[in-house]
Amino acid sequence: MKNLYRILFISIVVAAQIQTAQAKEGMWIPMLLEQLNQKEMQDMGMRITAKDIYDINHSSLKDAILLFGGGCTAEIISDEGLVLTNHHCGYRSIQSHSTIEHDYLTDGFWAMNRNEELPNPGLTVTRLVRMEDVTQQMLEGITQSMSEKERESVLKINGDKIKAEAEKENHYKAYVRAFYYGNEFYLFVTEVFKDIRLVGAPPSNIGKFGGDTDNWMWPRHTGDFSLFRIYVNKDNEPAEYSKDNVPYKPLYSIPISLKGVKEDDFTFIFGFPGRTQEYVPSYAIEMITQMQNPTRIALRRQKLDIYESFMIDNPKVRIQYSAKYASLSNGWKKWIGEDKGIRKLNGIEKKQDYEKAFRQWVDASPERQKEYGELLNELNDVYNRTTDVQKQFIYLLEAGLGIEIVKAARQLTPLVELSQKPGVTDEELEKAVTKTKKNIGKFYKDYYQPIDQKVFVKMLQTYGDNAPEENRPAVFELIDTKYKGDIAKYAGEVFDKSMFSSEEKVNAFLAKYKKQKYKKILKDPGYQLANDFITYYRNNIQTQRAQLNTELDSLMRIYMKAQMEMEPGKRFYPDANSTLRVAYGKVKPYYPRDAVFYEYQTTLKGIMEKEDPNVYDYVVEDKLKELYANKDFGKYGEDGRMPVCFIATNHTTGGNSGSPALNADGELIGVNFDRDWEGTMSDLMFDPDQCRNIMLDIRYFLFIVDKFAGAGHLVDEMNLVE
Ligand code: ARG
Ligand code: ASP
Repeated sequence: MKNLYRILFISIVVAAQIQTAQAKEGMWIPMLLEQLNQKEMQDMGMRITAKDIYDINHSSLKDAILLFGGGCTAEIISDEGLVLTNHHCGYRSIQSHSTIEHDYLTDGFWAMNRNEELPNPGLTVTRLVRMEDVTQQMLEGITQSMSEKERESVLKINGDKIKAEAEKENHYKAYVRAFYYGNEFYLFVTEVFKDIRLVGAPPSNIGKFGGDTDNWMWPRHTGDFSLFRIYVNKDNEPAEYSKDNVPYKPLYSIPISLKGVKEDDFTFIFGFPGRTQEYVPSYAIEMITQMQNPTRIALRRQKLDIYESFMIDNPKVRIQYSAKYASLSNGWKKWIGEDKGIRKLNGIEKKQDYEKAFRQWVDASPERQKEYGELLNELNDVYNRTTDVQKQFIYLLEAGLGIEIVKAARQLTPLVELSQKPGVTDEELEKAVTKTKKNIGKFYKDYYQPIDQKVFVKMLQTYGDNAPEENRPAVFELIDTKYKGDIAKYAGEVFDKSMFSSEEKVNAFLAKYKKQKYKKILKDPGYQLANDFITYYRNNIQTQRAQLNTELDSLMRIYMKAQMEMEPGKRFYPDANSTLRVAYGKVKPYYPRDAVFYEYQTTLKGIMEKEDPNVYDYVVEDKLKELYANKDFGKYGEDGRMPVCFIATNHTTGGNSGSPALNADGELIGVNFDRDWEGTMSDLMFDPDQCRNIMLDIRYFLFIVDKFAGAGHLVDEMNLVE
């Protein structure tokens, strides 16, 4: 029996090695590339060095890579601070400048000179100055016998010290992040730019061509890009918006290749992947694919159906709800793909096999038995308990707090709290009122009450049906007793009586606000509902979740360490954590299903094939059709075709959107924006046969800017390599 396990274990390892011979799973740490990956990358075709990618003594590629906002990647593509990212990453900014009269979302936007570039308060981009392994310093004073709480407080003190040191006498922002579940720590020193202006965006029917129908799918034809510019003060340093600011002179801007891509070409992706969970046990995969995803999928589908029924014939509502719709739909579709992918891969069984091998390895040594003997059982137990709490948490977040009137009411919480503070001054109150008015204004710009009322009823219904009677927010008691279970009736009264059902009512109330009036807010039925949810969260979820997470963190730290000990010869990449990483692979087609083959590249011809003037997602502009008919592709086409998107085996995730796709010479050949549906389980488990990242071909970007939009002055800024 023992031998059988050993053979099983070895064969898993060997199989994994054979697979990785052609596609390289992993998101690697830039500063360790030279040591861990350079040779392999060069063997696969790369002609530059690890130092060209990441260097702190000379400018390098990394100086052109930016964290865009909080969750996307962008890159600098001109010596005048021009920044390229996805259309869906710039979406909220583009939307915020859009009205029915100037509908930049639908029609596109092109600044024809610097004066026309539009500021975006609140938007930042962040450049990594340097990173450093600070594991030693972070673990100073930490002992084996410490409780998780004590450990955390020592880490906090050590981290603050490191951060303060790194920020001394400069304008940088520093932070420390845990890697390998707290077994290692790295310091990141960054520069945050705050004056970021919108330069260009294609119309939605290019930037979002295929919309949510094609989202997460290959073959794809989306021109998913937008352009921004970084502005700085006269010293070329970050500054808040000012009309005196000037375009940023970057340390590095990425040259753009017109050479295109072929099958098997080496490519790499340099960006900020957000979160993966490659090393979790089978119990986690079970929880995610059997409870978490199905629950969220069902709730989001209900909301999306309601949104759709209103958006379809109301152009104003369509603009108002476009970003909300896209973000709900994006998760909805991703989780469906993830569940399917894990099933097809037999992902849970794969993890179980691995755990068998792990137990075998543990049992082979008394010390290991002592250290890790109970580990998997403990993990199993925590995941069991987590599943219940997590389920109620999802209902609270997606259903309860997903109701917009509840969100509106919560905007007034700071004002209520301030008003109850003894000795609060009129001045303080006035300030808070002004701030609340501003938030309220932003909120109602994109609010349509009939949608919300429908969502309200549907969400409370589903939530109520799934919440155990002894563990649910108080509102369900109210509905059962006062309204005899009639949720629609309850909703009718809330929307009738609450000031939060319209901007006018809230503003009228705020216009005459005085300290004592907070009592009126407390009595508002919308506010009371929000209060119910928050109270329920505090009493029934928050502490429980925090405790479970602490247990889990500590067990996962040990499990990660044990996995690394079990396979000492293997290179482990750390799970994504929104820090800068490099993924590399090759341009490759794939078989999504039995007998179906997907080419690695799409072209403009495919856009014409998808065209349907009656379907919103597939409308094609006359100008684009004309360029196509005349084969007017300028220097961007290839053999009479206009390439649009392509795929490769790079391991990417959410946050990698907008990341540069680079060729063997480190030149820009594309912009990453998505993955194939068959491969979305790569956040949990990577399959080299099925996982592909989807990139916009840089030549299509140039074609749209130059030939379609007539913004050739922007192309003139760039450094094109033919
Ligand atoms: N699926 C891509 C990502 O996760 C693109 C999302 C935006 N596009 C959309 N149609 N919702 O971000
Ligand atoms: N579309 C994702 C993003 O916005 C990328 C992905 O998940 O592949 O980051």
